[in-house]
Amino acid sequence: MTGEPVRRTVDERDRTAACTRRSPLGASARLPAVWQRRARWVWPSPAELVTRAKTARTEQAQRASRRAGGLWPASCRLHPGLTMDDSAHLPVLLDEVLEALALQPDGVCVDATYGRGGHCAGILARLGPAGRVIAFDRDPQAVAAARARFAAEARLTVVPGPFSMMGRHLQAQGLAGRVNGIVFDLGVSSPQLQDPGRGFAFQHDGPLDMRMDPGSGICAAKWLDTASEAEIASVLFKLGEERYARRIARAIVRDRAGQRIETTRRLAQLVARAVPTRERGKHPATRTFLAIRLLVNQELQELQATLPQAVQALAPGGRLLAISFHSLEDRLVKRFLREQARGDVFPPDVPVRAQQIRPRLKLVGRPVRPGEAEVRRNPRARSAILRVAERTEAQHD
Ligand SMILES: C[S@@+](CC[C@H](N)C(=O)[O-])C[C@H]1O[C@@H](n2cnc3c(N)ncnc32)[C@H](O)[C@@H]1O
Repeated sequence: MTGEPVRRTVDERDRTAACTRRSPLGASARLPAVWQRRARWVWPSPAELVTRAKTARTEQAQRASRRAGGLWPASCRLHPGLTMDDSAHLPVLLDEVLEALALQPDGVCVDATYGRGGHCAGILARLGPAGRVIAFDRDPQAVAAARARFAAEARLTVVPGPFSMMGRHLQAQGLAGRVNGIVFDLGVSSPQLQDPGRGFAFQHDGPLDMRMDPGSGICAAKWLDTASEAEIASVLFKLGEERYARRIARAIVRDRAGQRIETTRRLAQLVARAVPTRERGKHPATRTFLAIRLLVNQELQELQATLPQAVQALAPGGRLLAISFHSLEDRLVKRFLREQARGDVFPPDVPVRAQQIRPRLKLVGRPVRPGEAEVRRNPRARSAILRVAERTEAQHD
């Protein structure tokens, strides 16, 4: 139906508005002969076309949902017992993660980034009664969701806080060197992105916060208010790979002189004005928001500090998995895994035996990306890349 012309009659006086207005008499009204001769095809107004397209999409989604046999489309029905809050985040590369972990039923696994527990639930389902999962998240809302969802799950320990406390925590639990699998699913979750109150997204207006743990560190608004122009430019360039970093930094400093930049919308709008070009399908503030988020949460530093702890925590044969969503994160993971797989480095002129090199990790397979079907179901997955490595027998010094 969408876009089909509608037969309407038009009054002579309304000729100019013919494309945007319907006859108040309606298509089936009996009209005087002279008006009938003037009857002609009139296209629906643009607003009407948009409404029709929306209705058609809704009806299509409802049909798909009915075919799937439930309230939720098939892609959202992940595990029995899932609540709406849990399904607000679809785990990325779930099957691939579970396969790569290759857990035994009595395995010990660390979920470094619980989020809404999609990976965690899959792991628990693979473990037997003697298995254990230790899940970290520094977002109090994620921790509350975990505790509510798995209140009766004795095999799961939820640890509130940054994953950089992994080494210390596992040591205290007597689990250092005994873990069979560790998963990092980096970045932010859909509930964090979709809640305007968290300030992560330029699509919604909200307070410019961006902290995963709102109780620690400084929020984005405060940093933007206190950082120098050079510092802002450097962060946008290095962490956001933003080529217009200097222009944006100048615009921020000019704008904040009047009043502190407190909201996501104000920042998004001023960045959009400062960026002279447009990338297809990408908001001009995307890189700026990413850079500030990485900075406020010290995301790269956290990852850098924790990867060596993860290697120490693994038992021989244990698997380390990392899902990254942007190039800086992935580069860091890739370099770390390669270095660990290369083993100890000696000066080029020192003769070395093979057994002295002691690589602590072995790379497993090639990097894995989501297939088309997953990206269609979950567009957030499109930039995901999963890397897997296995702990060798080599001991730490
Ligand atoms: C992409 S989501 C994980 C989604 C999860 N795998 C799932 O299936 O629901 C990332 C989560 O990791 C948390 N996170 C990110 N960096 C963290 C860090 N350094 N320490 C602890 N949690 C972190 C975020 O708060 C967020 O909840």
